[in-house]
Amino acid sequence: MPRIALPGYPTARNLPGLLAAARRMMQASCELTCDGDNLKFIDPCGLAVFSCVAERLMACDIPVLLVNFPDELLSYISRMDALGNLLDTKTELGARRDRHDALLEVSKVSSGQESDEIARMLTGSLIGGMSDIPEDEEPDAMTCMTRRDALEEPLAYIFTELLDNVFQHGGKHGFEPSAWVCAQYYPTSDLVRFVIVDDGCGFLASLGEHPDLPEKSDAAAIRLALKEKVSGNPTLLMRGSEHSANQGIGLTVVSRIVSMSRGRMWIASGDAALELGRQTVPTDGWQSSILAAELPRGRLMKIRIHQVIETLDAPAIAPKLDFS
Ligand SMILES: Nc1ncnc2c1ncn2[C@@H]1O[C@H](COP(=O)(O)OP(=O)(O)OP(=O)(O)O)[C@@H](O)[C@H]1O
Ligand SMILES: [Mg+2]
Repeated sequence: MPRIALPGYPTARNLPGLLAAARRMMQASCELTCDGDNLKFIDPCGLAVFSCVAERLMACDIPVLLVNFPDELLSYISRMDALGNLLDTKTELGARRDRHDALLEVSKVSSGQESDEIARMLTGSLIGGMSDIPEDEEPDAMTCMTRRDALEEPLAYIFTELLDNVFQHGGKHGFEPSAWVCAQYYPTSDLVRFVIVDDGCGFLASLGEHPDLPEKSDAAAIRLALKEKVSGNPTLLMRGSEHSANQGIGLTVVSRIVSMSRGRMWIASGDAALELGRQTVPTDGWQSSILAAELPRGRLMKIRIHQVIETLDAPAIAPKLDFS
């Protein structure tokens, strides 16, 4: 019977370790034992990846036995809806408090039509907990925005853009993708952490025929995706490519929001992972894609999307987000 020791930190910061464990879990063909003895901390990225894996194992009728999990982590993982039906019903979990002011449990999005609603929930869960800011705060005289509005703007852009990517690009390549999302605000570090995991086509399938792809590798496709105007490339427009409806700026704008707020972002697809501003590293693989980030909330609320878009080399049209 296969037995897997989960890593101490199944997190975005430890993406290769997380994906190694996920890969081994997915390879199980009979009852699997997951040993949580080493577990110290799990973040939204780890929760969403395990949730996706748990769903696949359950779909294949592979039982999973959870052993040696620290109680508080087991109840947190369960609280975040990351265990599917893996947990035996005898486990005591305590009362469930509504925490939608500070987190969004792992939530599965199965169609592009749901993405606006989920983007709204993700955004709301990360600004709702601003207990230091009264709900009826007067708007700033210069910007005419409250601090809540100011935080909503970049978050809404990020979540709308990343969820659109899953359904638009997966759909173009014959997939009917789903996305698993999860987010939490950590007040002591002022960090917003979130993840979007999908089971769509992955970056290489999406960009494999792009004329600027230097080699057919997952690492090269991830790097290319971050380049400005990748899908608005005139060569592709002339060819009438299906990419032509997009401007190719979404990931660039998201990555600039991350760097301007001095946050961190990770992308994994196929056998490669990249942390923004660093080299790609090999992983044991995730067939589709994962995008995770952690952003300091105080700096994030100072970022205006139109200013980010003005930093692009060629003019682009700012998206209209209707979050009313
Ligand atoms: N979740 C994903 N799965 C597969 N490929 C993706 C995914 N996200 C992005 N890509 C690839 O990365 C490229 C760049 O993404 P980006 O969001 O910057 O541009 P776009 O979606 O093409 O255009 P825009 O965002 O301006 O509408 C996409 O064209 C696509 O090929
Ligand atoms: Mg996009």
